[in-house]
Amino acid sequence: MTIAATYADFAARELRGVSPAYERLALAVAGDDELLALIGALPPAKRQPNLLFGVVRLLGGPVEDPAAFHDFAVANWPAIEAQMRVRATQTNEAGRCAVLLPALARLPQPLALLEVGASAGLCLYPDRYAYRYGEHRLGDGRPVLDCAAEGLTPPTRLPEVVWRAGLDLNPLDVTDGADVAWLDALIWPEHTHRRERLRAAAAVAAAEPPLLLRGDLVDDLPALAAQAPAGATLVVFHTAVLYQVPPPRRDAFVELVRGLPGHWIANEDPDVLHHDGLPEPPDGAMYNVLALDGTPLAWTRGHGQAMVWFG
Ligand SMILES: C[S@@+](CC[C@H](N)C(=O)[O-])C[C@H]1O[C@@H](n2cnc3c(N)ncnc32)[C@H](O)[C@@H]1O
Repeated sequence: MTIAATYADFAARELRGVSPAYERLALAVAGDDELLALIGALPPAKRQPNLLFGVVRLLGGPVEDPAAFHDFAVANWPAIEAQMRVRATQTNEAGRCAVLLPALARLPQPLALLEVGASAGLCLYPDRYAYRYGEHRLGDGRPVLDCAAEGLTPPTRLPEVVWRAGLDLNPLDVTDGADVAWLDALIWPEHTHRRERLRAAAAVAAAEPPLLLRGDLVDDLPALAAQAPAGATLVVFHTAVLYQVPPPRRDAFVELVRGLPGHWIANEDPDVLHHDGLPEPPDGAMYNVLALDGTPLAWTRGHGQAMVWFG
């Protein structure tokens, strides 16, 4: 796909009806030859809309008005490019716990959670948040995670978590102002509810920090998994991570995780982590697939805001 097509596709399938400001911006960039040429000089993995828009927000640039965005981006390109080269999209969305929860609830409790690509580790607290699947409410913590679920019999109890650990190439620290500024810059402009959710989830993580290690999901997973306590079900999981991992390393990771004791939960783009025999997606929007031990269970939206269960 060309860069212009990638931005237009992202606008149509991920942003439409979810972030009007970024939809406008992505469509404008898709037709902006000057910006496309600048983006094209970056390595392919550094060209994503979320990375560009997040860096411009971090640098204080305008993201509501495409013309102002163009002028700011062209005038400040050296600074923007430098940030895009050293950063990755590390959006840490506690809301994704709402789509992980039905899979976690099926497993023998208690759980030892190990998240690869954990960012700041906010998805390591599914037992601390509260959930609303339509009328069905579960838990009394904060933040409250809303998920429009179709076809799902919602879980009736929260998981029992006795160990939580994360691995990331660049772990973020929710008590570090600069890291929180980057997490905030990655949240889409109109998403005030997600900013509030970030603060509430960060408070949960700060009160009981996870074991969060710098490392690679292939090279460093076995040693961390070996630290999980006996007597708990080890669950290795990941959400929105494998698109950042080169294909041969994805294959190596899948082979590795299948060989570990315990269970494996994936919530990934099906173009990145392939599953045979998937049903038709509900509509033309972008969906991830929730899978338990390689068996697909549900289509899920990017921030955990909706899921369609078919498992
Ligand atoms: C988009 S974020 C998702 C964070 C979190 N899983 C969530 O859903 O909120 C992807 C994370 O994967 C990490 N990552 C990418 N490649 C990795 C690798 N090879 N090993 C470990 N972490 C990796 C990135 O640093 C980033 O923090």
